[in-house]
Amino acid sequence: MIALQNVWKTYTLESGPLHSLKGVTVSIPQNSFQAILGPSGSGKSTLMNLLGCLDTPTQGKIQLNGKNISHYSADELAHVRGKTIGFVFQKFNLISTLTALQNVTLPMVFQGASQATREARARELLTFVGLGNRLFHRPNQLSGGEQQRVAIARSLSNNPEIILADEPTGNLDSVTGTKIMELFQRLHGQGKTIIIVTHDPAMKKYAQKTITLRDGQIVGG
Ligand SMILES: Nc1ncnc2c1ncn2[C@@H]1O[C@H](COP(=O)(O)OP(=O)(O)O)[C@@H](O)[C@H]1O
Ligand SMILES: [Mg+2]
Repeated sequence: MIALQNVWKTYTLESGPLHSLKGVTVSIPQNSFQAILGPSGSGKSTLMNLLGCLDTPTQGKIQLNGKNISHYSADELAHVRGKTIGFVFQKFNLISTLTALQNVTLPMVFQGASQATREARARELLTFVGLGNRLFHRPNQLSGGEQQRVAIARSLSNNPEIILADEPTGNLDSVTGTKIMELFQRLHGQGKTIIIVTHDPAMKKYAQKTITLRDGQIVGG
């Protein structure tokens, strides 16, 4: 479970301070499916970076599974992130020279499992997302929806408790986007905590709970 208490994120610019989050308080229980909505510039990605242990708040407290991580160093955050959180991005962020199988295997390299174990797990994950027959395709040989499936399989490689997805359907047509959201629902059903950032209110229906941001503040569900 992740809890933010009166969290501020302020950037210091030449023109003065820019408050990207202004006193956000929210808690995200284990095995919930949470959507974060709001217009462009409202602070969604900033919030996502804090939830994902990619950044620390300027003020306020962030707790992850009961531990106060507000003042963790970059190394400490990286450690927590690696074993707790899987990421999915709007632009898939796959490595273009690697096959689907290699893209999914890569994050496991840092875990110390044998090559055979890693590859077996990557095959299993790609089969789970419906790509058992695309293991040796490279990203440019796959459709957008297939690339996002590879990215979701990759996000699962270290068996994270939480999946964070920033606009995961933003580059997909609506039919493909729906399939991706259904995949997140399946993962939720398997016990994962799913947090999805979107500016598309149509995505609301897939989540159990919605947070709406406007101008750096939570304005409602
Ligand atoms: N690294 C940064 N430095 C300065 N300003 C930033 C930075 N990141 C985000 N901002 C500003 O913070 C606000 C919120 O940005 P962001 O969280 O990316 O919004 P969203 O994801 O909802 O579009 C925007 O006004 C943006 O310009
Ligand atoms: Mg954003």
